[in-house]
Amino acid sequence: MPHKILWELQPDAPRLNAGFAGCREAVAANNPDFFHDIIECLIAAMEAKDPYTSGHSSRVADMSLGLAQALEIKRADLENVHIAAHLHDVGKIGVSENILTKQDKLSEHEWTQIQLHPVTGYNILCKSNLLDKIAKIVLHHHERWDGKGYPHGLQGNHIPLGSRIIAVADAIDAMTTDRPYNKLLSWEDCYHELQINKEKQFDPLVVDAAAQLWKKWADNRQDKQPVDKGQRLFIAPILAGERLKHTEEDR
Ligand SMILES: [Fe+2]
Ligand SMILES: [Fe+2]
Repeated sequence: MPHKILWELQPDAPRLNAGFAGCREAVAANNPDFFHDIIECLIAAMEAKDPYTSGHSSRVADMSLGLAQALEIKRADLENVHIAAHLHDVGKIGVSENILTKQDKLSEHEWTQIQLHPVTGYNILCKSNLLDKIAKIVLHHHERWDGKGYPHGLQGNHIPLGSRIIAVADAIDAMTTDRPYNKLLSWEDCYHELQINKEKQFDPLVVDAAAQLWKKWADNRQDKQPVDKGQRLFIAPILAGERLKHTEEDR
């Protein structure tokens, strides 16, 4: 039976049609808030799989926007970076909850599954031609400045700027948020780790931009969550041979 006829047989068809018409109008009117809200709903659904990561994408999106503004990138790109940051881990929808929430060291197979998430995210977003730039930023958000990241091992300026921005924001949020598989760092220690990894894991210009915003971010977050200065961990650079010692910012 043709799709249209099936649709018309649904008892709720008039009401649903009206709802979808509203959606179409909002999109047609190029309503950026509507688009943004849909993205946030999608990510909230994904983060519900792992309560510990709840809010991660929003925080990364906020920090990425601040970094992009500090780097004075043009307005259209600014929006792409912000939306890509919201969506950067959407590919985790394809990773089992057992792996995402595992507290012990990941096996090689599990680690491989985690490392697929940028490609899965890219494949999801590529379903829309309108999202192709955003998809590319998502694909490369785990690349490293020194070329030792994944999935393609891109180096330096060959990595899209949006991905380099998200990599820094992602690592900061991972380090300053308590998770079952690693404990949070103080903002002071996090700053130190970023500096150590400047020009290794991270684009030096993005790290400098983060330094400009640091006080504002730290004050804002410290208001909202306690910081245990006694816990110090990770963000050792993820070198090829070290990947089984997974770190949160790589998850
Ligand atoms: Fe990720
Ligand atoms: Fe992330």
